Amino acid sequence: MSSTETVAENRIYNDAIDKEEIIDDWQLDMNFHVFSKHTRQTISAQDTLVHLECVEQLTPVDMMNLANGEHDATGHCVWMGAFLLLDALGVLLQECFTGKRILELGCGTGIGGIGLMCAHEKERRPSYVLLTDADPDALQVCQRNCQQHNQLSENKYDIKELTWGEPLSPENLNASFDTTLATDVLYDIALLPPLFQTAHSALKANGLFVLSHVPRACYSSQHPPVDDLDQYIIDQATHNGFLLHRHIFPNQLPREFRTKESLNESVSLTDMQEVGASLFVFRKAPEK
Ligand SMILES: C[S@@+](CC[C@H](N)C(=O)[O-])C[C@H]1O[C@@H](n2cnc3c(N)ncnc32)[C@H](O)[C@@H]1O
Repeated sequence: MSSTETVAENRIYNDAIDKEEIIDDWQLDMNFHVFSKHTRQTISAQDTLVHLECVEQLTPVDMMNLANGEHDATGHCVWMGAFLLLDALGVLLQECFTGKRILELGCGTGIGGIGLMCAHEKERRPSYVLLTDADPDALQVCQRNCQQHNQLSENKYDIKELTWGEPLSPENLNASFDTTLATDVLYDIALLPPLFQTAHSALKANGLFVLSHVPRACYSSQHPPVDDLDQYIIDQATHNGFLLHRHIFPNQLPREFRTKESLNESVSLTDMQEVGASLFVFRKAPEK
């Protein structure tokens, strides 16, 4: 075989390897939702129905990506902690939300903020809601969900990307909110400190942080498991400049606000009580 033939053969061989590599590398962004199907669901929030585009559950691919830190698709589902917040609006609305500037952290589909802006008559709603999340895809879903609700044209709201622990821009975020809100965001307890830091720096003096919490696996490669999760959350809050103001359990809520057609029909307050869900209301501690 001549050297020219060898070069030509090698080129063919290399081309084949290149092709193989191209075939092997599907070049799929791991943040894809091939198996996820967004559907439109109806959720009852007090006396209002909220219509949300969301996925009913995470796919095995989503779970793998979440576990190995590749991508967090949890923002495409609606979570039990959000239902707990909606059920508790009757007892929290006046003190925490009516007429207030609200920052929602980890908003996902937008269920919490949208629930606040749609439920109840206009006079009892927040004056402004900023819905935020680290996941730009979830924020697009949130944007579409906001656009589904005519009532929101009467509300002032914005949607922004925000990752906990990152510095807030001084002009429109820092120390400018009356209440920060987060529902069902504690599935990795290593994220508690940045969550509290962001909630703290966004709040005005004496501001409130409403945390609707459902115990999850709380896995973290960087953190050992804790024995008493509620106490651990309270300790972290204290460490990050908060005082516990109220701790509300599902069985203390006056009644459930559910309708038959709603997605949350299957999750009762009794279920939530049994799994150890609760609502923490923290107050920003005075500066020393
Ligand atoms: C389990 S979902 C809860 C979504 C929604 N609050 C609910 O209750 O249905 C958690 C949300 O927190 C967001 N998230 C997770 N880590 C975050 C971080 N470090 N900064 C900002 N958002 C984060 C995720 O993108 C996701 O939308």
